Amino acid sequence: ATAVPFHGRHQAGIATPLQACGHLIAFDLRPDADRRAAAALMRRWSQAAEAMTAGRPPGDDDQIALDAGPSSLTVTFGFGRTFFAKTGLESRLPAALVEIPPFSADALDRTRSGGDLWIQIGADDPLVAVHALRVLQRAASGTAEARWQMNGFNRAPGATRRPMTVRNLMGQIDGTNNPRPSDTGFDAKIFVSRTTGPEAWMNGGSYAVVRRIRMLLDTWERLPTARQERVIGRRKDSGAPLSGGTETTPVNLSATGPDGTLAVPGDAHVRVAAPESNGGATLLRRGFSYHDGHRADGAPDAGLLFIAWQADPTTGFIQVQRKLDGADGLTRFIRHESSAVFAVPGGATAPGDYVGRALL
Ligand code: HEM
Repeated sequence: ATAVPFHGRHQAGIATPLQACGHLIAFDLRPDADRRAAAALMRRWSQAAEAMTAGRPPGDDDQIALDAGPSSLTVTFGFGRTFFAKTGLESRLPAALVEIPPFSADALDRTRSGGDLWIQIGADDPLVAVHALRVLQRAASGTAEARWQMNGFNRAPGATRRPMTVRNLMGQIDGTNNPRPSDTGFDAKIFVSRTTGPEAWMNGGSYAVVRRIRMLLDTWERLPTARQERVIGRRKDSGAPLSGGTETTPVNLSATGPDGTLAVPGDAHVRVAAPESNGGATLLRRGFSYHDGHRADGAPDAGLLFIAWQADPTTGFIQVQRKLDGADGLTRFIRHESSAVFAVPGGATAPGDYVGRALL
């Protein structure tokens, strides 16, 4: 029943440990909702999140989570580009909150993309996570309406004998080469700092790029394991790079095999995505798997709710995705089906404070 502090310089749910259950929900403001209504909503949401993350029932409780502790609940709030014009705050739209450009392999569903407001909910217990979703959705009533909602999961705590990096639905160990909060320069790459002027409200914040990426699992699962490993550039069982060592051994992109060819193939995902191949571009990947039944064509509607965190999407996600587009061997096995980008401000720093107060 671990509690993750709600208050802090950064919102929880970015650099805090990944949970087993995730809900992403985007809202659009109602036509009559102005800046004051938005501020009141952020205040209600922050109060409810503060209570629930501490394991206390919120004001308007349906008792879904009544018997459980906080279960590592985190609630993270963000603002989409469209929020600013609707609230008369155009002058405060951060320059970094750019539109995500189209990519050649996109198959985006506009109804499941974008949104004025966004909430990321993570918890290690499914009822605690759904409870937060319902409470926050009710608190929006009259001000904002749900635009899209997605549900995801990761491995539950205690499922492995020792804590391990999670696996995705392709079976790969996913997250190994993420930047770590203890790395030098982590904060500067992931969080906004020392910004002045109309964007000062983003200090301590970060930008989230959200992509619903369906995996073409029927095609993927027909590939022999050795081929699958060459698509990523790592071993499937251990997560070790094909250049040798164990999961945590640094990838050696110039290593060659006995036949003189590159150990990590030229189109391997880890080669094309690596900071070394992208002028140092770094992002923190903190996503959830999803499996929402089957599509009309019989294929599983399953994949990754990919969430990338960075101080600037242009030099983070956009730069890396531009490189991956066309050059990444993984592209043939995935479809990006929705896209959104949100400015996620710093955290509420004390009881009574609320997320977004410096903007609103
Ligand atoms: C690394 C899977 C999409 C960026 C990895 C790794 C796996 C993986 C298995 C190696 C382990 C690790 O370091 O985490 C996937 C799957 C995807 C996907 C299954 C889609 C369904 C993306 C996208 C981006 C991205 C869209 C960015 C635009 C990265 C980066 C690394 C990485 C930066 C670390 C590379 C390094 O420094 O070694 N991915 N990935 N991935 N991926 Fe992805």
